[in-house]
Amino acid sequence: MNQVVDPGDTVIDATVGNGHDTVYLAKLVGSHGHVFGFDIQQRAIDNTAKALQAARLTPKVTLTLAGHETVGKLLTAEQPVKCAVFNLGYLPGGDKNIVTKPATTLSAVKTIQQHLVTNGVIILLLYAGHPGGQQEAQAVIDYVSRLDQHRFQVLRYHFINQINFPPDLIAIQKR
Ligand SMILES: C[S@@+](CC[C@H](N)C(=O)[O-])C[C@H]1O[C@@H](n2cnc3c(N)ncnc32)[C@H](O)[C@@H]1O
Repeated sequence: MNQVVDPGDTVIDATVGNGHDTVYLAKLVGSHGHVFGFDIQQRAIDNTAKALQAARLTPKVTLTLAGHETVGKLLTAEQPVKCAVFNLGYLPGGDKNIVTKPATTLSAVKTIQQHLVTNGVIILLLYAGHPGGQQEAQAVIDYVSRLDQHRFQVLRYHFINQINFPPDLIAIQKR
């Protein structure tokens, strides 16, 4: 994120959760940039609002209690986006049955792709250790594997010496 986000950029935290990535992004966009944050749980929105308040970053972020698949409603047609982060799965410390889903995750990714500026990046953290996680990770990998290499570079960071289900990180960069 810090390699691509510059002060003044518009970025998206597609799954704010406890707000760690939101705060990090809000610092990166500086005084003239903006973060759009989404989560379907009131608890996540509240936790993130508190984290932003503590860091005095509240004005930098628009928090929306809705699925990231609605992102197209918030962005104007011409709105350039530099970076979007999807930290998939369930809210740490929350209800493990409320998880991101392949159809809505991919819908949001496709919408954001249309707004991505050259060199802009969509980052997805894939977790396969919870029910449905493996299917979601596979759906994302299937989709990004087929993206036109002339338009997008797709990288997969994969831990090869960790037991159980270490997360995979996917980075889609617009060429
Ligand atoms: C792994 S957590 C995010 C952690 C967060 N990035 C942080 O720094 O704490 C995943 C979050 O995605 C949320 N979520 C599930 N489905 C969603 C959707 N369709 N749109 C937005 N958020 C969703 C969950 O409520 C949960 O808070």
